[in-house]
Amino acid sequence: MSMTETSRIVTMDKIAALSKRRGFVFPGSDIYGGLANTWDYGPLGVELKRNVKDLWWRMFVHQRRDIVGIDAGILMHPRVWEASGHVESFNDPLVDCRTCKARFRADHLIEERLGLHVEGKSPAEMTAILREAEVKCPSCGNATLTDARQFNMMFRTTIGPVEETGTTVYLRPETAQAMFVQYKNILATGRVKVPFGIAQIGKAFRNEITPGNFIFRLLEFEQMEIEYFVKPDEAAEAFEAWIASMQGWLAHIGVRGENLRIREHDAEELSHYSSRTLDFEYRYPGAMGWRELYGLANRTDYDLTQHERVSGQDLHYFDQAENRKYLPYVIEPTFGVDRTILTLLVDAYDEEATVDVNGKPDTRVVLRLNPRVTPYKAAVLPLLRKPELVEPARRIFDDLNATLGVLLDYDETGNIGKRYRRQDEIGTPFCVTIDFESLEDQCVTVRHRDDMTQDRIAIDALAGWLAERIA
Ligand code: GAP
Repeated sequence: MSMTETSRIVTMDKIAALSKRRGFVFPGSDIYGGLANTWDYGPLGVELKRNVKDLWWRMFVHQRRDIVGIDAGILMHPRVWEASGHVESFNDPLVDCRTCKARFRADHLIEERLGLHVEGKSPAEMTAILREAEVKCPSCGNATLTDARQFNMMFRTTIGPVEETGTTVYLRPETAQAMFVQYKNILATGRVKVPFGIAQIGKAFRNEITPGNFIFRLLEFEQMEIEYFVKPDEAAEAFEAWIASMQGWLAHIGVRGENLRIREHDAEELSHYSSRTLDFEYRYPGAMGWRELYGLANRTDYDLTQHERVSGQDLHYFDQAENRKYLPYVIEPTFGVDRTILTLLVDAYDEEATVDVNGKPDTRVVLRLNPRVTPYKAAVLPLLRKPELVEPARRIFDDLNATLGVLLDYDETGNIGKRYRRQDEIGTPFCVTIDFESLEDQCVTVRHRDDMTQDRIAIDALAGWLAERIA
């Protein structure tokens, strides 16, 4: 897909429409008119998401001896967020319009209107830039924007039946803190030695001022994060190794390279905990352009130092080989699950000019997803809904299901052309068709999603043939 932005076929609207039509992602609370910026994964979306999470866990936890997993709670002690700096610093700059009451993120407004990257600048500095350029409200066009002010993005709730006397707690804005808080318990299990990592997949919540772009910026989302604990003087080397591992992951799930780049944060943009951060950016369609997909940060010993101070616990690591104690540095590769899903859909979307069964010009929509992540690995289709074809087709489906242990589709409704199109649109790499000839020669037709070529395969050899291609 080396193409200019204007010639790019994919748009966010097409992805959102396909997602709803085929059951990847639905608007949240849809029958109530939706709840803005909430989305639910449908039958195909949940499979795609599970595949992504399972592949990630396999690559970074099961296949490595230096990383262990945890699954922590969303609610944590409120002092965790004091220690981590989130109560103090997890803010976004907000501007309101006095006329129409619309709300904007000041940094995004400046970026959109003036093309300046100002993440990390103070609200006063952003206000000055907005005033200088006489930026007006994008909603109503009036010059009535307030000064920028900080807005804490953590969602708050109360533990206890009586709100006034209950304890205020936060829905975690990142999964990372549980890894710091449980680091001592994990060391005590005796299974790990520096360098080692703790991985977690789970929900995080942020009261984003300007969510949107379908599932790109959500209020509730999932993260796959690793906190990788290293000797302080080996942090730079570990950081470089993680760049390669993150690139390896993207290649593994089939995200093509031409729309990916790495961008280094400058000093002003760095989060309060980071000494070095890289964004893995993807070029999303249309006005969105290059945006953060994943991040890699050197969190130094910031979090452990803070948790030591606030909890009063000794979090130093005793290095037996060196016979000394130190606070490890932490390298943090972080991967948004929902952004991975969005990126996979955008990256895989393609349209091809073709002709329909009547010879009329038509468009074939095809999701060229890597078979590792597709919801269905293959679909079994009797050519017609006739008992003599349906019966062997169902048998083949059951046999493949038992042998392959992957999700397969079975579809006997509608004409075969329409069924192929549906499978193309949801990314199924292979369609297995049972026709009248199959009854004679005990073979089936396997159609390839990407180029629509067909192979004739013996039913006996089918499971092995598929296993080789979808493993
Ligand atoms: N623990 C570090 C951390 O949370 P972050 O860059 O704020 O760093 C990590 O978030 C990743 O989580 C991002 O790279 C992105 O993939 C995902 N993410 C962050 N905010 C999000 C949101 N509002 N909606 C969806 N995904 C989000």
